[in-house]
Amino acid sequence: PEVKKIAVISGDGIGPEVVAEAEKVLKRTEELFGYSFETEHALFGGIAIDEKGTPLPEETLSVCKNADAVLLGAVGGPKWDSNPKELRPETGLLGIRKALGLFSNLRPAVVFDCLKDASTLKPEVLEGTDLMVVRELTGGIYFGEKFRRQGEHGEEAVDTCAYNVVEVERIVRQAFEIAQKRSKKLASVDKANVLETSRLWREVVIRVSADYPDVELEHVLVDNCAMQLLRRPASFDVIVTENMFGDILSDEAAMLTGSIGMLASASMGEGAFGLFEPVHGSAPDIAGQNLANPIATVLSLAMMLRLTFGYSDAADAIEAAVSQVLNDGHRTSDIAVDKSKAIGTREMGDLIVAAIKK
Ligand code: NAD
Ligand code: IPM
Ligand code: MN
Repeated sequence: PEVKKIAVISGDGIGPEVVAEAEKVLKRTEELFGYSFETEHALFGGIAIDEKGTPLPEETLSVCKNADAVLLGAVGGPKWDSNPKELRPETGLLGIRKALGLFSNLRPAVVFDCLKDASTLKPEVLEGTDLMVVRELTGGIYFGEKFRRQGEHGEEAVDTCAYNVVEVERIVRQAFEIAQKRSKKLASVDKANVLETSRLWREVVIRVSADYPDVELEHVLVDNCAMQLLRRPASFDVIVTENMFGDILSDEAAMLTGSIGMLASASMGEGAFGLFEPVHGSAPDIAGQNLANPIATVLSLAMMLRLTFGYSDAADAIEAAVSQVLNDGHRTSDIAVDKSKAIGTREMGDLIVAAIKK
């Protein structure tokens, strides 16, 4: 079979721990399904700052550009938190998304039946929840001009939020297309009662919606959306929103599933190339202790196999293996009701590997 190239950038904190489990899963799908992958590891984030003096070394970027897909763990940690902007791991993350043209971040939040009691919410509220946050990833306040200046009361800080119609239209079209393939419901989330960028966003959404008459569209203000996600999560299907709102709402949506350790993501551009990463961060509080839940990263790998390579048999098999292991009652501590029975990162990875069936 054709050899597919995967760049692996595991990063900091729990990044290397969860990526190692996803790599075991990748190897098993190779054996079972006859696919062939070549992985190349590269330094990224805090570890790259320490070893190369920059969070996103040129070499790492070219490893990613030469690959068919990228698997990413997480970056950041207290060690680099007071560094200047250019020497922050998070700046490397924004840089790689921008450099690879990954403007669309797909974050599915699916409630596994057997995990309903792992959430802090009531099980009956969660019943049937299966939604997808489509987050704009390379625009908005994250990428606007930022500066300090002297004002009336001394130092001031400015972050600007800007969006143009091209940036809005391409993400909105992707969201409509995803909605067409799901239950044909799209919620566009903005703050059009206050923000000019949101008013433009809404204008574009309304114009583009004419091309998708089969999709039922609602506009929801972001504050209301944050509330409705907890009140009636199952009524959402696809949610499309700008960069920062999507960042915040997807962490909130994670708690519907029981833990941020469950939430996978795919960062895509116009084509099949993508960067696949868990939604969570480097979790310095549990790093290096075999405590992290690797499922978000394993499910991100499944998204890669499906979206970049079209290997849906392998993707389905990985997702089924995760379901089975959870149905069998195995839990990492973040999703365990009885924490004394929780298993570790590696044990969870091994169980998933063993449960993959052709
Ligand atoms: P975080 O997501 O790292 O952790 C938040 C909480 O969730 C912590 O209590 C952590 O232990 C827990 N958690 C996260 N992932 C888990 C997993 N797989 N299994 C079990 N528990 C898990 O967010 P934070 O603490 O706000 O940020 C820590 C660092 O990570 C910061 O430097 C931040 O900038 C960075 N960060 C990076 C990414 C990324 O690389 N994509 C995303 C978010 C945050
Ligand atoms: C995420 C993270 C990043 C973001 C940070 C670390 C830059 O929170 O991937 O959700 O805000 O996009
Ligand atoms: Mn985030």
